[in-house]
Amino acid sequence: MTNYEAVYNRTSVRKFKSELIPAEFFRQMNKFLEGLSPLYPKIGWKFVLFNAMDDEGCTKGVFRVKAPYYLVCYTQEDENAYLQAGYLTEQVVLYLTSHGIGTCYQGGAKALLEDEPEGMQQRIVVAFGYAEGEPYRKAGSVKRLPIKETCIFKEDPTPEESMILAAARLAPSSVNNQPWRFVVYQNRIHVFCRENVLTKIKVTREMRELDMGIVLCHLMLSCEELWVDAELVFLEQLAGRSVKGNTYVMSLMFRE
Ligand SMILES: Cc1cc2nc3c(=O)[nH]c(=O)nc-3n(C[C@H](O)[C@H](O)[C@H](O)COP(=O)(O)O)c2cc1C
Repeated sequence: MTNYEAVYNRTSVRKFKSELIPAEFFRQMNKFLEGLSPLYPKIGWKFVLFNAMDDEGCTKGVFRVKAPYYLVCYTQEDENAYLQAGYLTEQVVLYLTSHGIGTCYQGGAKALLEDEPEGMQQRIVVAFGYAEGEPYRKAGSVKRLPIKETCIFKEDPTPEESMILAAARLAPSSVNNQPWRFVVYQNRIHVFCRENVLTKIKVTREMRELDMGIVLCHLMLSCEELWVDAELVFLEQLAGRSVKGNTYVMSLMFRE
């Protein structure tokens, strides 16, 4: 399974087997981590993985899932730190899914580690391990808003744009709040973030920014899969622009 295929198969796993993952897998995974593409090359990042099987007290926080392993994403301080963390962590989550390993983002959790990378802060924790039961999403079982509720089409989308938006729709988000909104033209997709989410549990700005980083990862991964030459850029002329309570984040620009 490729990382793109994993977009369609991933689901949050909340029950794990108490089973070790082979050391060889972690060697391969470390190579994958070294080759990650960041959203912002200037914001330093680091992933720390740990085995929690012998130490239940190694995480704290709410809505935690008990798992054999946890992954912690650290980044340097920056106004885009959480976008960067979501973008990077989703690549790792999809890599784990593609290797048959279940994952669940832990928005309310903190890892209690003795040695933290210098000059960096924890942005998100992910529980992972072999799933107890089915590791993949059952076909047709996804709970997401219909495309027409999250996209404004200024022109008819191309077949590639429709596929890119279908993959974006499947992105995981905190309490499934799906804050992303898109304005779609023939050669670009402007990405906005909905500020007031209609969920019972309050979603913090940090969580929304993680969600937005995750959806940006799905956009770029789909472009790579479809051989669409595109880049994510921040258009100054749209900075601070708000469309119906949705704040501008970035634009996916297709090159001719
Ligand atoms: C940033 C973020 C934080 C999350 N925090 C939690 C959490 O604390 N506990 C939990 O059980 N699930 C958490 N989730 C998982 C979401 O509830 C889940 O992704 C969403 O409901 C969509 O379901 P799916 O992942 O199965 O597609 C989180 C997801 C994201 C992206």
